[in-house]
Amino acid sequence: MAKKIVVIPGDGIGEEITNSAVAVMKRVAERFSLDLEYEYKDAGGTAYDKFGVPLPEDTLNACKSADGILFGAVGGDKWDNVEPALRPEKAILGLRKGLGLYANLRPVKVADSLTEYSPLKPELVKGVDLVIVRELVGGIYFGEKCESEQHNGAERAWDLENYSVPEVQRIARLAFETAKLRRGVVTSVDKANVLATSRLWRRTVAQVAKEYPEVELKNLYVDNTAMQLAVRPAQFDVILTGNLFGDILSDEAAVIGGSIGMMPSASIGELTSLYEPIHGSAPDIAGKGIANPVGTILSAAMLFRYSLKEEQAAVAIEQAVDKALNQGWRTADLWHEGLKKADTDTMTQAVIDCI
Ligand code: IPM
Ligand code: MN
Repeated sequence: MAKKIVVIPGDGIGEEITNSAVAVMKRVAERFSLDLEYEYKDAGGTAYDKFGVPLPEDTLNACKSADGILFGAVGGDKWDNVEPALRPEKAILGLRKGLGLYANLRPVKVADSLTEYSPLKPELVKGVDLVIVRELVGGIYFGEKCESEQHNGAERAWDLENYSVPEVQRIARLAFETAKLRRGVVTSVDKANVLATSRLWRRTVAQVAKEYPEVELKNLYVDNTAMQLAVRPAQFDVILTGNLFGDILSDEAAVIGGSIGMMPSASIGELTSLYEPIHGSAPDIAGKGIANPVGTILSAAMLFRYSLKEEQAAVAIEQAVDKALNQGWRTADLWHEGLKKADTDTMTQAVIDCI
């Protein structure tokens, strides 16, 4: 039976980059005789314009029965003044919550051909191979909030951060399992010197660590982690952290590789999982056909690995991306004199030709 892939292009460059990734998936499916079917659904500002909501019921329902979901990007200045509950970002937050996508994996591995793009010195970047495991359906993102109220004669707003023991246990186990298959070190990141949620986080992670004697656990405060990522990023194997800290640290970690356009992610749930590049919808270049499709193509590789359990297909995509880069192909965000300039379609074809 065919496996169902739901494709959600979203806004801005979303359509171009998901088209690229689907073209690569089709090539890989052909090469490994996999039977995949694709169902396209709306979300984000595009869905808001069509249906008045960023996440139509029909999109969420299709995702519930998907074997894997490929997501482009949402958002754009066009919807900046839409009321908070209907903003395009609510589409991805709603999918995470509605599908129980509790774990976000953001690997950062810097290809040798790309060390020159890093804002850090090449000798610091060499050998960086880490993965951020970010809790994705809890914490301050989903706590109670108040947009505006009067308090002691002044207007104020607030967002509540809370974490329960089972929520922390679930994400911690996934981080330890991930570390077992890698170099065996989990760095749990929190702000336990100030926050109660962080203190619960730290003692829960310490309990879970006892189930994994083969994995080493380190604890680091989030401010120190931000600094360590800039001064010695190669020290990290698995970084385990909550929703808000994970959001911030993963942008920082992503840029170590030089371009956020290259970075994939997987959002893992118990029933289905969603794959998306970590960059945004880049409205300034949307429709021009020049966006870097690599982050989305590598996200498709993660879909083959984690949702379809097709490791060979995943590796084939990752190796093809490396090869195309080694052949000198670069989209405009990474191009300089001496390299081959590719638009979105050319870059995609270069990857396909290497599969
Ligand atoms: C991300 C994004 C989202 C987040 C936004 C679009 C809601 O920044 O996936 O990292 O904050 O989680
Ligand atoms: Mn983010």
